[in-house]
Amino acid sequence: MTVVAGEGDTETVHTEHGTEYALDLAEVMFSPGNKAERVRVGDRVETGERVLDMFAGIGYFTLPMARAGAEVTAVERNPTAFRYLVENTMRNGVDGLVHPYRADCREVIDAGLDGGPVDRVVMGYYESWEYLDHALAALAPGGTLHMHETTPEQLVFERPVERLEAAASEAGRSVEILDTRRVKSHSEGVSHVVVDARVS
Ligand SMILES: C[S@@+](CC[C@H](N)C(=O)[O-])C[C@H]1O[C@@H](n2cnc3c(N)ncnc32)[C@H](O)[C@@H]1O
Repeated sequence: MTVVAGEGDTETVHTEHGTEYALDLAEVMFSPGNKAERVRVGDRVETGERVLDMFAGIGYFTLPMARAGAEVTAVERNPTAFRYLVENTMRNGVDGLVHPYRADCREVIDAGLDGGPVDRVVMGYYESWEYLDHALAALAPGGTLHMHETTPEQLVFERPVERLEAAASEAGRSVEILDTRRVKSHSEGVSHVVVDARVS
């Protein structure tokens, strides 16, 4: 990150659909292209729903879901992103609904989630398919999974769906694909996609 204009203060508060995100642009990621997806996850959850955000960052998805009334276990292993995650839960008045863990999400799942398996798992990470076994272990029967990945154009949406179906089959679960979306263009010939699925 190079400052090309201004005084070089890279810490800011970005407001989007009423959600405030404090962050330092030199330290943590923020993708404007994910805006519609951030809004969408908040619109989908029900009040009181139990959610696991496995790659929470500064609260990109956690905050809109908690503001909609969901109880979110938010896991982030990067200490800087985690510090903003905690600050942002307080800034948005949802610290009572968010349970933040600074850890590898696999360790949190292996230790057992308070209250047992959750209604929804959000996997906002390009390599999220590598964590599908843990995501499925955390998801209650009939729960919803949102799996993100970067996919070469010729494999959209075939590859993520196949990965999800293979992991579900391995875990002895069945999967119903609810929706597939291109979130944004990631790079030349590669899309950031998300697959929504119900897992029995
Ligand atoms: C790309 S960012 C988050 C993106 C965000 N969910 C979104 O789509 O806007 C992925 C985050 O996952 C965190 N992360 C990666 N692997 C992790 C793991 N095994 N456990 C917990 N956090 C992890 C990274 O530190 C990073 O903050």
